[in-house]
Amino acid sequence: MDYNQIQNAASFINDKLKQQPKIGLILGSGLGVLAEDIENPVKIPYNEIPGFPVSTVEGHAGQLVCGQLSGVEVIAMQGRFHYYEGYIMDKVTFPVRVMKELGIDKLIVTNAAGGVNESFEPGDLMIITDHINNMGTNPLIGPNDSRFGVRFPDMSEAYSKNLRGIAKDVADKNKLTIKEGVYVGNPGPVYETPAEVRMIRTMGGDAVGMSTVPEVIVARHSGLEVLGISCISNMAAGILDQPLSHDEVIETTEKVKSSFLLLVNEIVKTLGNK
Ligand code: HPA
Repeated sequence: MDYNQIQNAASFINDKLKQQPKIGLILGSGLGVLAEDIENPVKIPYNEIPGFPVSTVEGHAGQLVCGQLSGVEVIAMQGRFHYYEGYIMDKVTFPVRVMKELGIDKLIVTNAAGGVNESFEPGDLMIITDHINNMGTNPLIGPNDSRFGVRFPDMSEAYSKNLRGIAKDVADKNKLTIKEGVYVGNPGPVYETPAEVRMIRTMGGDAVGMSTVPEVIVARHSGLEVLGISCISNMAAGILDQPLSHDEVIETTEKVKSSFLLLVNEIVKTLGNK
């Protein structure tokens, strides 16, 4: 990844901001609504930012929204870049490098995911405890630029224990039921076959999706503390006797919207007071 390109994008954004963001947010499919809670928003469409790819998938607006969420300076990605859209991993993870350059030290990553754990239900929120990279590639393949991080990054606490604890406390205090589990990142764009879902369960996965893993790898490489939250938008293939569709994913995220908004707002507020 080109250091100068990241600096160019960051300085372009920086010129438009009044305050330095503390927390970065990546809003997944159907979850972009959170950006509407941001006060005094500065909105920057991705296609205006030098070096940024442009998002294509339905349900993704494709802009950065910067401002205060629950009184804390944040920078939110309303829409993300997926590997299945055809972007190389450098592009998928470019915004994470840029947000780090802008000064964030924590990243909250959200996504819609299929429930693999049979005790889950559509509409559940899940704190990601760990992930399995099943994408068949890794965003750090290639020469390592030590200005970003080390050659062989430790992944033993990809999802911060501290932030997971805070998220759990916030959920309990607000009487929100919350699940915890391992997220498996598949390349997509197809949903899994029932046999693949059984394999994912056997290998320790609780939820499956097509994002998050690349961004989290790059975030950890650059020393960011990460919190991941999945919205279980459907049960993964073969669990229920019905086909999967993107419409169902969006419908469920719509239903879970209020608890998702409450959870993330309260987490951000808590982090702002630390
Ligand atoms: N599989 C993969 N990705 C997903 C799913 C799923 O069932 N639901 C939402 N994103």
